Amino acid sequence: MKKRALLISASASIFALALVLNCGDKNESKKEAAAPTTASAAPALTPELEQGKEIFAANCASCHGEKGAGDGLAAANLNPKPRNYKAPAKEWKNGPTEAGILKTLNNGIPGGTMVAFKYLGDEKLKLVAKYVIYLNQN
Ligand code: HEC
Repeated sequence: MKKRALLISASASIFALALVLNCGDKNESKKEAAAPTTASAAPALTPELEQGKEIFAANCASCHGEKGAGDGLAAANLNPKPRNYKAPAKEWKNGPTEAGILKTLNNGIPGGTMVAFKYLGDEKLKLVAKYVIYLNQN
């Protein structure tokens, strides 16, 4: 009789334990479900792209336009027109790759107003090239 009571109480506590554990699991999954969903604001630029953007605004936007659409204030009178960075790669002379853009910036493009910007130095040229690629892709 005693043994039976022990068994019952043992299984009761196992049952209780199972309930508690099960309950814990439920809370856990509720927590996951309630995880805050981040609002989908426009992704911020990386610090590197922010630097490139500043260099671009100071040296390039007057011809290429703030977003690189080739519509800067000085663009109207230029022939050829400044490249629209959204133009497909086949319309670029040196290409919208980092190597192609650095070639353009180091040598300029003869026969127009796209002069060399070598004086900015390798570090700034690399940053602005990355920003041009960003404008090409976004
Ligand atoms: C005085 C106006 C002017 C300024 C300032 C200028 N560009 Fe240009 N850019 C042009 C013109 C015009 C072209 C088109 C040249 C052509 O098609 O022969 C061009 C073309 C380009 C191209 C396309 C090259 C290709 O492969 O076809 C890139 C990239 C470029 N510019 C980057 C820059 C960057 C970066 C700056 C600033 C550091 C800058 N440009 C400043 C006028 C300008």
